[in-house]
Amino acid sequence: MNTNKNFILKGEIAFSLNEKEIQTYHEGYVVCKEGICLGAFPDLPEEYKYFPLIDCGNHLIIPGMTDLHVHAPQYTYRGIGMDLELLEWLNQHTFPEEAKYADTAYASKAYSYFAEDLRRCFTTRAVIFATLHNQSTINLMDQLEATGMITYVGRVNMDRNGGEKLQEESAEVSLQGTREWLDTIQGKYKNTFPIITPRFIPSCTDALMQGLGKLSEERNLRIQSHLSENKAEIAWVKDLVPSSSCYANAYEMFHTLGDNNRPAIMAHCVYSDEKEIAILKKHGTFVAHCPESNMNLSSGIAPVRKFLEDGLQVGLGTDVAAGSSMNLIKTMLCTLQASKMYYRLVDTNVKALTFEEVFYLATRGGGKYFGNVGTFQNGFEFDAVVIDDSKMHSMRNMSIRERLERMVYNDSDCIIMDKYVKGKQIYYHE
Ligand code: GUN
Ligand code: FE
Repeated sequence: MNTNKNFILKGEIAFSLNEKEIQTYHEGYVVCKEGICLGAFPDLPEEYKYFPLIDCGNHLIIPGMTDLHVHAPQYTYRGIGMDLELLEWLNQHTFPEEAKYADTAYASKAYSYFAEDLRRCFTTRAVIFATLHNQSTINLMDQLEATGMITYVGRVNMDRNGGEKLQEESAEVSLQGTREWLDTIQGKYKNTFPIITPRFIPSCTDALMQGLGKLSEERNLRIQSHLSENKAEIAWVKDLVPSSSCYANAYEMFHTLGDNNRPAIMAHCVYSDEKEIAILKKHGTFVAHCPESNMNLSSGIAPVRKFLEDGLQVGLGTDVAAGSSMNLIKTMLCTLQASKMYYRLVDTNVKALTFEEVFYLATRGGGKYFGNVGTFQNGFEFDAVVIDDSKMHSMRNMSIRERLERMVYNDSDCIIMDKYVKGKQIYYHE
């Protein structure tokens, strides 16, 4: 285990310069000083010669990835019940499972699986939904803090349409519970931050949404939710908030879209049109693109190319359990494949995303939500993953770019060797 504060990793380095370009260095160096990256170099600059050097040999060294949208309580039933669409899936699988998190012992065990597996995957930062239960959510936050990952965690708000077992009695009960949760964790964590989490408009009355908008402003907290995932959901929102001009406008009316300093995350945005995109842009909202979930629940394909061209902030989300795994490499592959099908089947004017663009989304695109995160340029927080891809035998002498692409199209034989978050090693392969 590397416990140095200042050190150098040497190996096969790749990171995004921008949306279109990946920089690679064969036998290159990436320098960490007190959690901050001082840059990556083809030759080691003189001034860092005395930093301890960790030689990673032929392993790939890439920036850590950000999962902008994942449900911790859904982790243990991932990959089950996937023949349904969103609203039926929520009622039949999700809500009954999440209701079990009223039992803190059950939650503690299930969250231990989630936290441990999150520590072992490509993800270094994540934005997470818990459930509406305070004790269980605090248990999750305790366990995440212990991993060394940097995360936002939301105690979920729901005061309608959750059935008998997963619904708070009133907007005031939900708001009071949220305030108590925030007061209990005040000052408790270094790397685990609270985020206000109305599940989605169908789960929250107008009074609750208004109260959460106000609470987020008062306490300077960010908000996460779901937006325009499924056609039946969108029609329902129009019925529930008839004065809204679109789904995003409903969030806007309740002051739950934040602004550039306090950006919201909206998961999915599959059916966001020009009007909705303009609203998201105005508020600096991050879109969490969750392509595997959108395919599993037959939701649709989000127009990510359009979002990028319009200057929206976009990152990737696994959306477990509608997505089947926390492996962002798989999400990258789904992003590529979904965008190719969007081009072929929906609109041939919208070109498929390139590998460079999708690598950027997984690292820097989502990393931006956490500030200077997601690449190896000078001044960025040092999040890195070291990967052994040697089991993927090849007869070719491949470039680093080719090795990365192959890793994404066939991840099964890659081993994560080391993982660093803000300069701290939080995982190594035994
Ligand atoms: N919309 C509201 N809740 C959920 C959820 O748990 N998963 C997904 N995919 N969409 C949602
Ligand atoms: Fe979700």
